[in-house]
Amino acid sequence: MNMNNTDYIVIKAKDNGVQVIGLTRGNDTRLHHTEKLDKGEVMIAQFTEHTSAMKIRGKATLYTKHGEVEIDE
Ligand code: TRP
Repeated sequence: MNMNNTDYIVIKAKDNGVQVIGLTRGNDTRLHHTEKLDKGEVMIAQFTEHTSAMKIRGKATLYTKHGEVEIDE
C-alpha cells in the first residue's frame, strides 16, 4: 500500500440519496463505486491506491483539509 494516499474527506449528507462516487487511479479514470447516504449519515472516505478522485452528488457538507464545502443543489 502506498502510504502517501492517506488523505480522507468527511461527507455529511443533508438529504436522502446523496451519492459518493469513487473514481479509479491510473491511466483509465472510471467510476468504481457508488455509496448512497441518507440524511444525517456521515462517511469518512479515503484516497487510496485505487481511488484518485471522488464525485459527490446531492446536498451535503464536505470537510477536507482544504476547507469546508457546502453543496446546496
Ligand atoms: N476499494 C476502494 C479503495 O480502496 C474503497 C474506497 C476508498 C472508496 N475510498 C473510496 C470508494 C471513496 C468510493 C469512494 O479505493
